[in-house]
Amino acid sequence: MTEPMRILVTGGSGLVGKAIEHVVQQEGGKLEGEEWIFLSSKDGDLVDVGQTRAVFEKHRPTHVIHLAAKVGGLYQHMKENLLFLRDNLKINDNVLQTAHEMGVAKVVSCLSSCIFPENTTYPIDETMIHNGSPHASNFGYSHAKRMIDVQNKAYFQQYGHCYTAVIPTNVVGPHDNFSIENGHVLSALINKTYQAKKEGTPLSVCGSGAPRRQFIYSLDLGRLIIWVLREYKEIDPIILSVGEEDEVSIKEALDMITKALDYKGEIHFDTTQSDGQMKKTASNAKLRRYRPDVSFTNKYTNIYTSEQKHTWVAFIITPTLFK
Ligand SMILES: NC(=O)c1ccc[n+]([C@@H]2O[C@H](COP(=O)([O-])OP(=O)(O)OC[C@H]3O[C@@H](n4cnc5c(N)ncnc54)[C@H](OP(=O)(O)O)[C@@H]3O)[C@@H](O)[C@H]2O)c1
Repeated sequence: MTEPMRILVTGGSGLVGKAIEHVVQQEGGKLEGEEWIFLSSKDGDLVDVGQTRAVFEKHRPTHVIHLAAKVGGLYQHMKENLLFLRDNLKINDNVLQTAHEMGVAKVVSCLSSCIFPENTTYPIDETMIHNGSPHASNFGYSHAKRMIDVQNKAYFQQYGHCYTAVIPTNVVGPHDNFSIENGHVLSALINKTYQAKKEGTPLSVCGSGAPRRQFIYSLDLGRLIIWVLREYKEIDPIILSVGEEDEVSIKEALDMITKALDYKGEIHFDTTQSDGQMKKTASNAKLRRYRPDVSFTNKYTNIYTSEQKHTWVAFIITPTLFK
């Protein structure tokens, strides 16, 4: 790119934001003439329109990667759907409208594969986002995310803006939320397994272990989001994910975690707890059409538990290495 770009990354302190920062700062992802600004909630509460405007006025971005969201684990979503709906609606509207008012050339926002309809055919693709109600467990978050796609289309129709969105499947990597109560499924399981081994207690897993998920390594996702910012011209969103063949059950993922952490104790599946959506298999065919060269990391190291920050474990995401 020859034009100077000032890229503001909302949610820059989270799992995905930290991955983009790593790609930009450590992997030479930053091009000449570019300035990257990574925000956390400490720079401004984006639920508040005044604070959102102040942040944009301070940095005057030409481009925005919008990652900030109120995000939680399955059980937190089930308890607080209203809060997830309202906070995310406000954050997204504040960011998109402020970007519009300040003449931002491009916004790439982040949807999620958990916003897809509950009753659907598989694999799910980008055209199916609005084809039915999302899973009841996280309907608040899902509807707020779906509105980003609606707003992107409206900003294009009314003003010709290139505001678009990516749809990642489950993300894993350094800087994830490892909380057992509120963490994402893999990071919470890693921490639980680690604790069970340390304490010599049985490992209790919420649900049956049967749900299936696709996991993308955060650095792979970070590189792809930067590609979308630079190259992808559509308003319609694009799924950023490993292929359907790399979907694993929670039980299979747990096998990998227990192997990686050498946990040999008892495992109890608590089937009184909800499983959430049984699967949400997403197609990455559109991504493959644009980027037939893309490859995904199937092993990641450098995960640490929230408790013992210097305990590094190796964890294999896809089952292929165990075959
Ligand atoms: N993680 C996944 O598996 C996954 C999967 C699909 C899609 N996504 C989407 O990807 C995006 C990034 O997810 P993530 O996993 O990186 O999230 P995360 O680790 O929970 O980070 C959330 C980020 O948003 C910021 N934030 C939260 N509320 C804010 C507010 N009111 N004002 C300003 N900033 C606020 C946080 O700042 P602080 O650090 O200061 O709190 C943090 O930087 C989200 O839009 C999410 O929906 C994630």
